[in-house]
Amino acid sequence: MCKNKTYYITTPIYYPSANLHIGNTYTTVAADALARFKRLTGYDVMFLTGTDEHGQKIQRIAEEKGVTPIEYVDGIVAGIKDLWDIMHISYDKFIRTTENYHMKAVQDIFKKLYDQGDIYKDSYEGWYCTPCESFWTETQLVDGKCPDCGRPVEKAKEEAYFFKMSKYADRLIKHIEDNPHFIQPESRKNEMVNNFLKPGLQDLCVSRTSFNWGIPVTFDTDHVVYVWIDALSNYITALGYGGEDKSLYEKYWPADVHLIGKDILRFHTIYWPIMLMALGEPLPKQVFGHGWLLVDGGKMSKSKGNVVDPVVLVKEFGVDAVRYYLLREIPFGADGLFNNEIFIKKINSDLCNDLGNLLSRTVAMVEKYFGGIIPAPLAKEDIDDELIKLALETPKKVEEAIDHLKIPEALEEIWTLIGRANKYIDETTPWILAKDEEKKDRLGTVLYNLAESLRFISVLILPFLPDTSKKISVQINTEVDTWNSLSAFDGTAAGTKVVKGENLFPRIDVDAKLKELEALKEASIKANKQIEIKPIKEEITIEDFEKIDLRVVKVLEVEAIKGAKKLLKLKVDLGGEQRQVVSGIAKYYKPEELVGKNVVLVANLKPVKLRGELSQGMILAAATDDDSELFVVNPGELPTGSEVR
Ligand code: MSP
Repeated sequence: MCKNKTYYITTPIYYPSANLHIGNTYTTVAADALARFKRLTGYDVMFLTGTDEHGQKIQRIAEEKGVTPIEYVDGIVAGIKDLWDIMHISYDKFIRTTENYHMKAVQDIFKKLYDQGDIYKDSYEGWYCTPCESFWTETQLVDGKCPDCGRPVEKAKEEAYFFKMSKYADRLIKHIEDNPHFIQPESRKNEMVNNFLKPGLQDLCVSRTSFNWGIPVTFDTDHVVYVWIDALSNYITALGYGGEDKSLYEKYWPADVHLIGKDILRFHTIYWPIMLMALGEPLPKQVFGHGWLLVDGGKMSKSKGNVVDPVVLVKEFGVDAVRYYLLREIPFGADGLFNNEIFIKKINSDLCNDLGNLLSRTVAMVEKYFGGIIPAPLAKEDIDDELIKLALETPKKVEEAIDHLKIPEALEEIWTLIGRANKYIDETTPWILAKDEEKKDRLGTVLYNLAESLRFISVLILPFLPDTSKKISVQINTEVDTWNSLSAFDGTAAGTKVVKGENLFPRIDVDAKLKELEALKEASIKANKQIEIKPIKEEITIEDFEKIDLRVVKVLEVEAIKGAKKLLKLKVDLGGEQRQVVSGIAKYYKPEELVGKNVVLVANLKPVKLRGELSQGMILAAATDDDSELFVVNPGELPTGSEVR
């Protein structure tokens, strides 16, 4: 019996705490396009995505919210699934690392690796932050302090299990050399081999005792499996590895491609293959590390307020416009830019002008000249050949591009065909043919060729823009939508009645829409202004507090300081004494807004010089972490000199 060709593609499993934005949506949209393409071209596809739900961070967030970790992740996972529905992600399986079958399989994997001597117990030495209960490596520290809370850290030791990575390094180097497509793109392969593998691998810490939201190590229950063995195993446990029914594993493993962002390449091209080697399982055929999606030249981050929300974009422009931009504009493998203006202009040019107009003009002409019935192609001319030839060649070109994971290039091929069909209208001038009754057959042939080109286009775009594909086939009223039907230019049945519909992509007024988006963003920043609640600092006694002398003071004069945009120089009255204070509040207050106001001064702070100006104390203000909002504390109209307690 002939076995179906299979294709197994995975995305990373997302951290529930990751705050999904257009950047991490990108991986999954790209994987979806590939999965749909393979299904269309006859493969039996398994497309896996899911969530990576364990770890200290989740445990801490749940504690802060006063819920159990599983309650916390359940809510987020539901939201992630909703997002994938909105983006029309056609995953076949969604794995959660908190599911029993996964946890049990990971426990068995850990035990097997331990029993065969690849995992051993030792102690982990690092920098420990007691309030955060976190270990950090030297390089993770920020100015020698905890990168999470900024407090001092101390050297500490914790018992932990380690994986002997170095044992397999040579085998892995050989595998990478023998399989040039294993790590893609090429540049990333060199980085992995030269920067990590060749200098020598350190053993990997694979368990922790400092938190318990993880998979317990069966033979040493103080330990939970630490992050990567748990997370990476999902690619095989989702197929039943380690369970009773291994049929999916036998059918789909090894994966054809793990699609991931470049930040997690090292884990997928070094730790994961070594784990598989140790388990005696085949390695994935390819790991592809795509680039980073940037906004305005930088990374997206909540604190910068530049996070692009895919749900807002889909609501404003439709899912296929967003998919099109991600798939066509971002060079697959390199970093790319998300920019509203380029996005809207691209919708107008490629989707509205090129594709939308081709459909609406064709359907309108069939209606106008043939009462809505697609005519038979009775009068062929040489000029038709170029269009037909290109249509027949395009599927192969698209397939070749996709086989090399060149998604933007695949779309470019399709748009070349769209452009050619539009040019064909200009060349054949149907509106002139329509004036001459004797040219009726010729006019019919031109319109048939256009309808058939649209049928080709609707099949070709199906993996990338599934909604639009469907809308086109509804308007030209065809059900002939298989990949094989693209081997001949005759799938449209003459006599079919077209069904005129709405414009696929209405033209957008760029300036007006940009303003609207800006307003939406501002509103959402205001509505969602969330600050990270930092843990309360170390306890102090009332005596400690009493050392701080806080006083109500009146602002007498305020001046800007030359060359120091953020600073203002204030003269304040303490009730008897006057002082000069330098304060970093110039962004929020104009000098005249402060004069005559009462503020609170830390009056016994050791004086310092800031930008050459003496500052005798500090003005109290409430501010967000990133200082995007700040208010000077207002003590009302109390007499100057009053103590603040
Ligand atoms: N949980 C791990 C993956 C474990 S896989 C066994 C993880 N999760 S994540 O939620 O932080 O990231 C998910 C994916 O989003 C990663 O592929 C990451 O590279 C990608 N991206 C996150 N921000 C991105 C951009 N700004 N641009 C493109 N991809 C980005 O890592």
